[in-house]
Amino acid sequence: MASKVILFFIIAVTAERASSLEGDTVAEAVNNTDLVNMQWGICLKCICKDDKVDCSNQELTKYFSKDEWAALKDFKPRTIDMSYNSFENITVMAELPIEVLNLSRCGIQSIESHAFLSLQNLKVLDLSHNKLTSSYGPQVDGYTRPRYKPLMSIEVLNLAYNDLHSFNLDLFNQITHPTELDLSGNPMSNTNDDDDKFVEERWARGTKILHLRSCHLEAINSLFLFSFGSVTRLDLSDNLLTVVPDGLGELRGLLYLNLNQNPIRALVRDPMRPGYPYLTKLKELHMCNMPNLTEIGDGAMASLRSLEKLHLSFNPQLRRISRTALVRHTGQDHESPMVKELYMKSNALSELDPKLLSRWDLLSAIDVSGNPFRCDCETQWMVNNLVPIVDKINPNASIDMVCSEPEEMRGITMRHLYENNRIKRCGEEQRPERHVFVPGGAMLTSISELLLVCCLLFPLWWL
Ligand SMILES: *[C@@H]1O[C@H](CO)[C@@H](O)[C@H](O)[C@H]1NC(C)=O
Ligand SMILES: *[C@@H]1O[C@H](CO)[C@@H](O)[C@H](O)[C@H]1NC(C)=O
Ligand SMILES: *[C@@H]1O[C@H](CO)[C@@H](O)[C@H](O)[C@H]1NC(C)=O
Ligand SMILES: *[C@@H]1O[C@H](CO)[C@@H](O)[C@H](O)[C@H]1NC(C)=O
Ligand SMILES: *[C@@H]1O[C@H](CO)[C@@H](O)[C@H](O)[C@H]1NC(C)=O
Repeated sequence: MASKVILFFIIAVTAERASSLEGDTVAEAVNNTDLVNMQWGICLKCICKDDKVDCSNQELTKYFSKDEWAALKDFKPRTIDMSYNSFENITVMAELPIEVLNLSRCGIQSIESHAFLSLQNLKVLDLSHNKLTSSYGPQVDGYTRPRYKPLMSIEVLNLAYNDLHSFNLDLFNQITHPTELDLSGNPMSNTNDDDDKFVEERWARGTKILHLRSCHLEAINSLFLFSFGSVTRLDLSDNLLTVVPDGLGELRGLLYLNLNQNPIRALVRDPMRPGYPYLTKLKELHMCNMPNLTEIGDGAMASLRSLEKLHLSFNPQLRRISRTALVRHTGQDHESPMVKELYMKSNALSELDPKLLSRWDLLSAIDVSGNPFRCDCETQWMVNNLVPIVDKINPNASIDMVCSEPEEMRGITMRHLYENNRIKRCGEEQRPERHVFVPGGAMLTSISELLLVCCLLFPLWWL
C-alpha cells in the first residue's frame, strides 16, 4: 500500500514537472513574436532564426507570394537565403528590411518588374547561376526612365553565370549604381550597339568593382569601359583578349587589374599601340597562366608608375622581360615604380636583369622560383644579391631558384652557389660577354654600348 502511494507520488511529480516544462516551452514560444510566422507560411518551410530566413535547398518550386512575404514583417528579416531551389519567375516582394537576398542557383528565367522595389534596405542581391537572358523586343529601349524610384542602396549585384549578352534587362530599371557588379560567366562577347545604349544612360556610374571573368571577350568596347569610369578593380581573367585593351585607359582610377588566362602574346611598345594604356594609379597587376605570352618588351609597362604588386607567374613561354619594361623616361631621368611584391614563378626566364627594379632590397615579397635560370656571370648578381634578399623575406625560399644552364650547372641551386661563394667568371670558358663582342654589333642596344665598344676597340686599333 505504502509503495503504491509512493509510486503515485512519483508519477504525480513527474507529470507535474513534465507539464510545467511544456508550459515553459510554450510560454517562451508565445513570448517569441515570431510564433505567428512559425505556424504557417514561410517559416514552416524554412528555418527562421535570429534575423535570418534560410530556405536553401528546400525543393521549393514556387516563389512566395507578396502576402506570404508580408507575414514576415514582425520578424524583421535581414538575410534571406533562397538558393538551390527552382523558381522560374520571381514575383513582387513585400516591404521588408532585407539586406541580403540570395537567389543563387534557382533556375530563374524572369523577374517581374517592381519585384524588389519594396526592399529599400537591400545591399546584396545574388542572382548568380540562373537562366536570366537579355530581353529583346519592347525592352530594347533599355533604360526607360522608371516612374518609380529605383533601389539605390545596392552594394553588390551578382549576375554571374547567367545568359546575359547585353544590358537590356528590366532588373536594371529597378537597381542602379551597384558598387560591385559581377557579370562573370555571361557570354558578353557580342559587344554591339546595345552597349552604347547602356553607356548613354550612365547606369554604371559609381560602380567600383567589376567582374567580367569568363565572358568570351575578344575585345572590349571603349565606350563600354567609359561608362564604368569609376571602376577601381577589374577582373578580365579567362577571356580571349590577345592584346591589352586600349579602352582600359578610360579607367583613370583603376587600382587592380586581373588579366590572367588571356591569350595575349607579347607586350611591346610601339608608337601605334603602347604595351599598356595610361593606368597611372594601378597598384596591382595580375598576368598569370597566359599560355601565349612570350615577351614583355622595352618600356611596355612604363605607364604603370604606381605599380606595387606584380603577378607574372605560370607563363610557360615567357622568356624575355626587358630590363626597361617598367622604366619611363622623364626628361633625362629614368624612373621606375616602387614595386613591393614581385611574383615571377614558373615562367621560362633564363635570367632576371638587376635593372628591372630600382630597389630589390625594398621588396616585401618575392617569388622567382621555378624558372630555368642560366648560371653564369650575367646572373651572378642573383647569386650574390638576390639570394640573400629572397631568403631574408622567406627563409630558404632560394632553394627553389635552380640553374638549368649551362650543362655542368644544371640542378644546382643558387643558394648553394651563394653559400659556397662560387663565382663564374665571364669571358673565359663562358659565353662571351654579350652586347659587346658580338660580331657585327648586331646586339648593341644603345648608343652608350656603342661608345663603350669604340673605347675598347680604339686603343687596339691604335696599336
Ligand atoms: C516575455 O518576455 C518578457 C520580456 O522579454 C518577460 O518580461 C516576460 O516575463 C516573458 N513572459 C513569459 C511568459 O515568459
Ligand atoms: C513565368 O512568367 C511568364 C511570363 O513572364 C509566364 O508566361 C509563365 O507562365 C510564368 N511561369 C510560372 C511557372 O509561373
Ligand atoms: C548564396 O548561396 C550560394 C549557394 O549556397 C553561395 O555560394 C553564395 O555565397 C551565397 N551568396 C551570398 C551573397 O551569400
Ligand atoms: C595560344 O596558344 C595555344 C597553344 O598553347 C594555341 O592553341 C592558341 O591558338 C594560341 N592562341 C593565340 C591567340 O595565339
Ligand atoms: C633552412 O635550411 C637549413 C639547412 O640548409 C636548415 O638548417 C634550416 O632549418 C632551414 N630553415 C628553415 C626555416 O626551413
